[in-house]
Amino acid sequence: MSIKLMMDGKEISVDEDATLLEAARENGIDIPTICFHEATTPNALCRICVVEVEGQRVLQPACIVKAANQMKVQTRSERVVRARKTILEMLASTMDLSDAPEVLTMMDEYGADASRFPDAHRRESQVKDDNPMYVRDYSKCLLCWRCVQVCADDAQYTYAINFDGRGYETQIGTFFERTIPETTCVLCGQCVGVCPTGALKVKREYLLEQGMTPDQISVLSMGRKKRKA
Ligand code: SF4
Ligand code: FES
Repeated sequence: MSIKLMMDGKEISVDEDATLLEAARENGIDIPTICFHEATTPNALCRICVVEVEGQRVLQPACIVKAANQMKVQTRSERVVRARKTILEMLASTMDLSDAPEVLTMMDEYGADASRFPDAHRRESQVKDDNPMYVRDYSKCLLCWRCVQVCADDAQYTYAINFDGRGYETQIGTFFERTIPETTCVLCGQCVGVCPTGALKVKREYLLEQGMTPDQISVLSMGRKKRKA
């Protein structure tokens, strides 16, 4: 069954099961997303997709809130734009966004000031290079949870990684900070594929960025294969 609602002053008609994000996208209305991914269960962690729904006290995350008949929604009101700008400024103040081009584009679009919260607690982490397939740099992690979800029930059912720590110290990690080869990880690469910020990166790409040549990388991986044999 389809329902009718108003979005940005335009009447639209969508399936009754649609979320506000689906309703917007089906009707050519752009709502930005960061933690949302088509292949994972939406968890509404980043809040960049918030919209203003008439009659609701707080802004609503469009990626999980269902559209309803006669709803009136503003996707770009002043309040919405201010909230998104602040979210982007907080992200930029607490993590390294240098490998997150989509988020950087949003920052430009919303005029977000990366230096607005100079005293914010910044996530620092050493690059973890402990397996042949990918490296992990959690100073670039925005805790979107996509990697954990594809490693678990959304795809691989491997459960090698999860949230670790609390508060400011929260990060993605392995059980007791074991190295990846010591976990159940099967090196499927799905976590790397869904990471929006370069926190998870294919090792070859990382080594090229570090200045190694393709030949040097081949020698390195041949040495590793020999050691395994
Ligand atoms: S490592 Fe990447 S995919 Fe995983 S939570 Fe961090 S930003 Fe998201
Ligand atoms: S995209 Fe909706 S909360 Fe992150």
